[in-house]
Amino acid sequence: MNKKVTAAITAVGGYVPEYRLTNFELEKMVDTNDEWIRTRTGISERRIQKGDGLATSDMVVPAVKELLEKRGIDAMEIDLMIVATVTPDMVFPATANIACDKLGAKNAWGFDLAAACSGFLFALTTGASFIESGRYKKVVVVGADKMSAIIDYTDRNTCVLFGDGAGAVLLEPNYDGYGVQDSILRTDGSGASFLHMKAGGSLRPATAETVANKEHYAFQEGQSVFKFAVKGMADVSAELLERNNLTGDDIAWLVPHQANKRIIDATANRMGLSPEKVMLNIERYGNTTAATIPLCLWEWKKQLNKGDLIVLAAFGGGFTWGATLVKWEY
Ligand code: UT7
Repeated sequence: MNKKVTAAITAVGGYVPEYRLTNFELEKMVDTNDEWIRTRTGISERRIQKGDGLATSDMVVPAVKELLEKRGIDAMEIDLMIVATVTPDMVFPATANIACDKLGAKNAWGFDLAAACSGFLFALTTGASFIESGRYKKVVVVGADKMSAIIDYTDRNTCVLFGDGAGAVLLEPNYDGYGVQDSILRTDGSGASFLHMKAGGSLRPATAETVANKEHYAFQEGQSVFKFAVKGMADVSAELLERNNLTGDDIAWLVPHQANKRIIDATANRMGLSPEKVMLNIERYGNTTAATIPLCLWEWKKQLNKGDLIVLAAFGGGFTWGATLVKWEY
């Protein structure tokens, strides 16, 4: 009898740029202070990609290289690469194509997926489906964003929140039930006005006026997003546990999108999880959009054990949100 194929995470890689933009440095740039940022968000510093000619793909490449080295495979073995990002190198071609070229992944096809802060979860579920169907054996799922490229460093509402980084996982077929178990994913386009970039798309192509009006930067109505995020991320995580007949006690780790420590606390609380079971790196990296969840996995890898049940949860621009249950494989 053929066993069911599941998509197991078999390697993790990550990359954050060297440069640390601290709260104290931001104090010199906008009317803010370290205390406000730490108590309202949980962030102390974030990494920024500096240097001419560098883009999101230049963070994807080292993250994927690390993953390939850890798994002991060559880039030529990758079948498919999905890059979740809202800061692609260019509108087209896709950052996945550019990264595959830089990596020498000549047998892979790939595409970008835009779902803002939920991008990694959406890409993980998409990548897992290609494994579960039996079609592919090695799918690389990346979450990567160079948020500094779309942040207005005179706007204190956004510039204190975001940072740059990339995280990647390798998905491979598993016949013992490890890997992605279940996902609940949601979108609600009526939330678009609360978190978006006003210009640069087909609705408002770039003009001298859009540049002068600063319409190519991320705009966020923080308080409104906060309210939807607390409810959305907590509801969907609780629903995922319930439909899998699980409680907080069964979960080894919550791996939450790192937008605001207060949103993360509310989600953990709703799931009945103690704070020691929550992966957190917001303090050091801020909100790296699609990269937050894989960067957590990358940093916590040593504390993950085979068989651990973990819940990945996110909320972000779109609105988009979701939660994914994973049984850790290695
Ligand atoms: O990852 C994508 C999804 N995004 C999110 O999940 C983000 C959700 N939103 C948030 O995390 C929070 O709303 C923020 C961190 C963005 C803002 O925190 P808040 O507690 O909602 O603050 P607020 O916007 O209600 O502002 C409170 C006060 C205001 O002053 P007044 O009107 O009370 O005098 C703001 O002007 O804080 C002021 N403020 C600041 N003060 C110092 C806003 N930004 C700053 C700042 N430094 N950077």
